[in-house]
Amino acid sequence: MKKIYLVHPQKIGTIAPELYGHFIEHIGGVFYDGLWVGKDSPIPNIRGFRKDLVEKLKAIHPPVLRWPGGCFAETYDWRDGIGEERPTRISWWTGRDGRYEPNAVGTHEFMDLCEMVGAKAYFAANLTTVSPLHIRDWMDYCLSPRGTTTLAKEREKNGHPEPFDIPFWGIGNENWGGGGRMRPEFYADEYRRFATVLRNAAGDTEFYACGSDSEDYNWTHGVVPGLKDRRGRIDAEGFAMHYYCGKAGDPVAFTEEEWDELIAKAQKMEAIIKRNWNIICAHGAQDKLKLIVDEWGCWHPDGSGPSKGYNLFEQQSTMRDAMVAALTLNIFNNHCDKVRMANVAQLVNNLHCLFLAGGANCIVTPTYHVFDLYKGHQGAEAIQVIADDQLSVSASVKDGKLLVTVGNLSCREDATFTLESLGLSLAAKGKGRLLAHGDLHAHNTFEEPERVQPVDFEFDADQPVSLPKGGIAALEVEII
Ligand code: AHR
Repeated sequence: MKKIYLVHPQKIGTIAPELYGHFIEHIGGVFYDGLWVGKDSPIPNIRGFRKDLVEKLKAIHPPVLRWPGGCFAETYDWRDGIGEERPTRISWWTGRDGRYEPNAVGTHEFMDLCEMVGAKAYFAANLTTVSPLHIRDWMDYCLSPRGTTTLAKEREKNGHPEPFDIPFWGIGNENWGGGGRMRPEFYADEYRRFATVLRNAAGDTEFYACGSDSEDYNWTHGVVPGLKDRRGRIDAEGFAMHYYCGKAGDPVAFTEEEWDELIAKAQKMEAIIKRNWNIICAHGAQDKLKLIVDEWGCWHPDGSGPSKGYNLFEQQSTMRDAMVAALTLNIFNNHCDKVRMANVAQLVNNLHCLFLAGGANCIVTPTYHVFDLYKGHQGAEAIQVIADDQLSVSASVKDGKLLVTVGNLSCREDATFTLESLGLSLAAKGKGRLLAHGDLHAHNTFEEPERVQPVDFEFDADQPVSLPKGGIAALEVEII
């Protein structure tokens, strides 16, 4: 029998809703035939966005959407995505098999989507191929009050008189790689140059500097001190790192050893967060810079999704991917004092996606259900948990309720545990939701869209709870 100790007096902090964020890039099939079907499509849509997907996304309370990339952002010209006449551009990220970027989705459409699903907007600004003035103009266009600047008037002419609300701006993407292959010191200089110019237009929105790739702490050591001006001031609120746990074997036909391997790779997220945070603290920047993980997830080889490789990076998601999501979200909750935002990559028809769509089909993956099971953590107070290594756990308290999310990391053994609530008095009965399947390779397809889905159950709060191998549970109990 395992025990999960919930150490209530020891609060970690508030779980920023934005830890449950998403990422939608103009890449492969994310937009075209994924999210966006067009206003004139026979597929039910809301102003061009796939209706079914919009409604299901809204149901999991997406707090923030990051757009337009990724790597795509570093060649994006925002002027291509406004007005009636939109140019078609080459884009390596969408441009396989003769596909070009039509710019049908631009600033107004993206903001419309955010409004439809109730998410905040996180814009990724291009630092590599444009000047700071170009991005300042984008900010002027989006943020200046009605009837003021020439660009605000152009926005009004394009159908949006009031300024858009864009609280988060990233300055560059992966500038250690596709974003210019820069040295950390050079990027930090460029960041300060951009931030100095952009701050005039963006007021008190949050600016995020490009963070490290996986375990490349050399980047963190170079960028964090380099963000300081000659007075030691940092004009950034976040350090936006990326960590993809990658692959282990076939996405849908993996062995038990490959399950273990991928889980172990995903668990590295915790050490990466801690080490980056320690470097931020070592440079005395902890009161200013929080960690942002604006790309994370599994990265399997292409070809396992319904488009059979046509959509770049599209992959199937099994119970193993759901477990990676569950344990990663538990890590974010348990480090919510350090992590300000996180965005799983990506929402649809791509890496570690929540949706697979094509033509009239649109299904949710097991990873979608994890976000649904965990949504009650958003905005809650995270409390310390102590648990056996076989279990990934986090717990939070909000509105008089305790929510505990647990993943059984073993693909071989079921687990039974009790909740040991230290300092909390719990109601006798709780409500649970379980995501599990006898076959951990199970996944949803267009032909069998509900093979993996959660079931509801009731449990006695002072009695053992069983969790099948590879299973994920959300347990909610009233605090009395
Ligand atoms: O998510 C796919 C790609 O992965 C993004 O464009 C890039 O930022 C990262 O390398």
